[in-house]
Amino acid sequence: MNKSDQSPMTPLENHIAVVTGASSGIGKAIALRLSEEGASLCLVGRNNDILQEVAENIKKKRGGFSSQVKTYQVDLKTDEQIHQLREQIQKDFGSVDILVHSAGLFYMGRVKDVSIRYFDEQYQVNVRAPYLLTQTMLPMIRSRAGQVVFINSSVGVKAKAMVSQYAATKHALRAVADSLREEVNADGIRVVSIYLGRTATPMQAAIYEREGRVYQPEQLMQPQDVSEAVVNVLALPKSIEVTDFHIRPLHKSDDI
Ligand SMILES: NC(=O)c1ccc[n+]([C@@H]2O[C@H](COP(=O)([O-])OP(=O)(O)OC[C@H]3O[C@@H](n4cnc5c(N)ncnc54)[C@H](OP(=O)(O)O)[C@@H]3O)[C@@H](O)[C@H]2O)c1
Repeated sequence: MNKSDQSPMTPLENHIAVVTGASSGIGKAIALRLSEEGASLCLVGRNNDILQEVAENIKKKRGGFSSQVKTYQVDLKTDEQIHQLREQIQKDFGSVDILVHSAGLFYMGRVKDVSIRYFDEQYQVNVRAPYLLTQTMLPMIRSRAGQVVFINSSVGVKAKAMVSQYAATKHALRAVADSLREEVNADGIRVVSIYLGRTATPMQAAIYEREGRVYQPEQLMQPQDVSEAVVNVLALPKSIEVTDFHIRPLHKSDDI
């Protein structure tokens, strides 16, 4: 039996969700969790083989839901590809209920050392791309009084040593989210920033390697924990909104 024949429906069933960074870590976990709620998924990333694997995994796990899953190979550093993504999703789905910005880049190092080239690259992926993608998708999101999720970081609120460039991009992302919220709340659109501590993903494994530390992913937050929180925020009644959601592990180890 099709799940849509059963009641009650989940709050996110039949919602159309676009997730950037869906090929890895937090974005992948959010996509999988949204599909368990019956949402249709647009998976965005650069590596189509990996996106296909995620799509297959979703298809296996979505039970009786009649939701769809499609993959979109996009380099978010390229404006043209962002516009093409919008056109393709408009053709495939017509509207968007949920836009999750999870794609991100991280470089570390002292201000005195790190190449300005890395700053430009992080700005492109962490700030400019979510801005442009939101801008181009806004009519489709508005048509559904949808929701926008910006995956941010604890250092997007308070920077620390070695992360000046990344933290600056995440501070900027917070500003984009805060401005956008003020502009679109009146249309029934909710905008939330999710501020994360260290989470066990390939990005975090690379950070540990760079720091010369032993990677113990079990001591960190898990992508599934983050996806659970995000889905719960998205499923809240539309009469309220969460604006800023800070998540950190209950048990602290060093600087998590
Ligand atoms: N992990 C943490 O501890 C942590 C903490 C705080 C905040 N965050 C934030 O959480 C988000 C997800 O990070 P993660 O830990 O899941 O990292 P991850 O495992 O490295 O995944 C990063 C994702 O971003 C995508 N991406 C990077 N550059 C791209 C580009 N030019 N075009 C399209 N996609 C691109 C990657 O896709 P492809 O490589 O397939 O293109 C990948 O799916 C990021 O915004 C990160 O800043 C993470």
